[in-house]
Amino acid sequence: MCGIVGVVGTRNATDVLIQGLQKLEYRGYDSAGIFVTDETRTETLIKAVGRIAKLQEKIGIEVNGSTGIGHTRWATHGVASEDNAHPHVSETGRYVLVHNGVIENFKELKEEYLVADTFVGQTDTEIAVHLIGEMAKTSATTQEAFAKALKLIQGSFAFAMVDREEPGTLYVAKNKSPLLIGLGEGYNLVGSDAMAMIRETKNFVEIHDNEMVIVKKESVEIFDASGAKIEREHYVAELDLSDIGKGTYPYYMLKEIDEQPSVIRRIIQKYVVDGEYQVEQGIIDAVTEADRIYIVAAGTSYHAGYASKEFFEKMTETPVELCLSSEFGYNIPLLSKKPLFIYISQSGETADSRQVLVKTSALGHKSLTITNGPGSTLSREADFTLLLNAGPEIAVASTKAYTAQIAVMAVLAKAVGAANGYEAAKEFDLEHELALVATSMVATLDDKEKIANIVEGLLTGTRNAFYIGRGADYFVAMEGSLKLKEISYIQCEGFAAGELKHGTIALIEEGTPVQAIISGANTASHTRGNIMEVESRGAKVITIVAADCAVPTDDIIVPTVHKYLTSLAMVIPTQLIAYYATLQRGLDIDKPRNLAKSVTVE
Ligand code: G6P
Repeated sequence: MCGIVGVVGTRNATDVLIQGLQKLEYRGYDSAGIFVTDETRTETLIKAVGRIAKLQEKIGIEVNGSTGIGHTRWATHGVASEDNAHPHVSETGRYVLVHNGVIENFKELKEEYLVADTFVGQTDTEIAVHLIGEMAKTSATTQEAFAKALKLIQGSFAFAMVDREEPGTLYVAKNKSPLLIGLGEGYNLVGSDAMAMIRETKNFVEIHDNEMVIVKKESVEIFDASGAKIEREHYVAELDLSDIGKGTYPYYMLKEIDEQPSVIRRIIQKYVVDGEYQVEQGIIDAVTEADRIYIVAAGTSYHAGYASKEFFEKMTETPVELCLSSEFGYNIPLLSKKPLFIYISQSGETADSRQVLVKTSALGHKSLTITNGPGSTLSREADFTLLLNAGPEIAVASTKAYTAQIAVMAVLAKAVGAANGYEAAKEFDLEHELALVATSMVATLDDKEKIANIVEGLLTGTRNAFYIGRGADYFVAMEGSLKLKEISYIQCEGFAAGELKHGTIALIEEGTPVQAIISGANTASHTRGNIMEVESRGAKVITIVAADCAVPTDDIIVPTVHKYLTSLAMVIPTQLIAYYATLQRGLDIDKPRNLAKSVTVE
């Protein structure tokens, strides 16, 4: 993954880079570095292992400059060390480069062009910058050398490079990895996302794959792969700087969990105007014409796909199949005659999903992206997009994006069903039911202290835990379990309650925590039976139950919502359980180890 940022012009480059890198930490945070220079070529290259704060500690106030590039890393090639941290420098010392992505042919490039070179680390990036240095030996300009190297490099990359002999220019290029240009007055920027630059500008220019961009303080020139110059309009981002603050919250995750009722209300406001669903006709037609929907997603978004499957099938009268994006290429389903691919992705940048989109588009199949990332790669490359409108989600563990994904899927299903007069959609007053969901969420959130108390002691010291549920609750169990393990590091499995006895129950022993989810009368008696089975083997059970099927001894009671939307209500306690378990274990809630929020490597 990794995040990159660059600036050239009338700003204090160090300050811009550090601010930008802090916003990009969600993309990786095992090491970081900056390179800054100015017209007098007063240069500094500083790297540090760990978070941006560690890098900041090493930077003296005298380090400023007018041109700079910075990087925050999520290790792919080589351990987290200063040698492997970016920026990397060419053999000649002339070029300094930051990179996000994976260069697939780095070994071949090294063997063919760079046998005589000495490398300080193990990264593929170092090979890229050495290659540019090598190409410069037979090129008249840096632009030519950069272009030659880009033609040889295979894989994913977002590059920002400085030629130390030309300190007022950034050389920029991308393929598959995200990268945007930010436009300022007297300065210009480059960054992995808009948030990294939003303090400096709201005006952005997209870069497409295989383009090269020359950024100076007064100009931005874009070239296509053949070297021809391209004109592209800028756009104004709707992001607000205050959206990306933590406010009075100790962690982003808690803020984002708390924002969910208002996100649900915002989705109603955006998508339902005077009782009419605001979904473009092209999307309604695409779903209506499809004989099967393939949802492609990863992680939490995959779970949101499962949570949406039942209502989507009922309201659109179309079968829905779930595909893990990283598995799609190896377990290709037999495709129907007229498939529609729906890509659910909070970031809109997930490389695993994107590679499937590239394949399905090449086959001529229509695609829709459901994302929180306007202008993201998956959004740009799909035929259609529906935005989540959830506001920036900063904590690595996804919460409000998950519930927003399900809500937007419900909007789409209802819009299609209503347009076609399908019975299940006619009977379902989505606007009203989503409002009830928001109210249910508020009630659970208001009682969060109770959840903190229930969790205390039970999950603080445990090494493993289970979530169990049936039907829709099984999908919430999968998501609740992912949330718990990704931030608390408790090994947790989300299990179909009835399947537990077919093997996995062997893992239940004295004190094993089991969270059981029951959202409906149809599953209650069987799941309660499974609770007894694990309790009689020593498990400590927490029950999370919808009010209409709860008994007084249940632990967490959730106000009941429509059966299509139970995941939206039942997931809230599981998010809070993960949050409090992690808080009690004293871990970094927003930035768990080894993870990143936007996973741009396959
Ligand atoms: C990463 C994140 C997860 C996320 C998954 C899919 O692993 O840490 O929170 O669910 O990617 O990301 P997407 O942006 O496609 O939803």
